[in-house]
Amino acid sequence: MSGRREEMLKEMGLWPLWRLRRDAAGEAAPETAVAPDPQPDTVREPARHDPRTMSLEPRATNHEPRATGTDDRRARIMRMDWAELKARVAGCTDCPLHAKRNKTVFGVGDENADWLFVGEGPGADEDAQGEPFVGQAGKLLDNMLAAIKLKRGDNVYIANVVKCRPPGNRNPEPKEALACEPYLHRQIELIRPRLIVALGKVAVVNLLAREASIASLRGRIHEYRGIPLVVTYHPAYLLRNLPDKAKAWADLCFAVDTMRDLQSGTTAAT
Ligand code: URA
Repeated sequence: MSGRREEMLKEMGLWPLWRLRRDAAGEAAPETAVAPDPQPDTVREPARHDPRTMSLEPRATNHEPRATGTDDRRARIMRMDWAELKARVAGCTDCPLHAKRNKTVFGVGDENADWLFVGEGPGADEDAQGEPFVGQAGKLLDNMLAAIKLKRGDNVYIANVVKCRPPGNRNPEPKEALACEPYLHRQIELIRPRLIVALGKVAVVNLLAREASIASLRGRIHEYRGIPLVVTYHPAYLLRNLPDKAKAWADLCFAVDTMRDLQSGTTAAT
């Protein structure tokens, strides 16, 4: 293991809990690092779809379309290209969050990424800089990415449920998330990621349109409008609940395995 990687696992509070799985030839395969306590509810099933060619239309059973102001507004947003969408978000005044923001936080990264990480909403640092996950939680997210050999901007896109900072870092209200939902939906439609990683409860509730604990949803492949989605804890939560970093690491390993299966066409959502 390289010193840098060991540092990252230490930063995540995971070293030396984790060991590397070795292949038959004895070669270390760091990206398949395994937990000493495998997740019992991990579910893998045979191939079903290729997210790159799937329609992003909602499935009635999983994600009912929700009213977000006028249908016209939504329809207009759904036709926007990147430049139009960025300009629309930058000038958005469609919910009360705009009043106290310094900067909108659109999202950042590779617009053709396989990986999409979705958080909750900007905090103070993000509001000041206009980029998601640049504070302490962002540092941890960067280390989580690095631990699975990813980095922001390189086949990775990072976005939030809401683009403006909720005052005092409270959770976004359902109405605020609803007003912002077409923006995230359009971003996802433009990116067409292979896999979405929902970071924390707010992302999960809004992307899966269901109330459930992170604990009950981990280790399974869900779907956002036909795109495979896995869940894990929000980095800010992990900073306050250090023991759960081990579970987050297991989730990241599950995400890596899922991505590998998606790339080879052997994964299906449950
Ligand atoms: N938390 C989030 O959910 N998003 C950010 O951009 C920063 C902190």
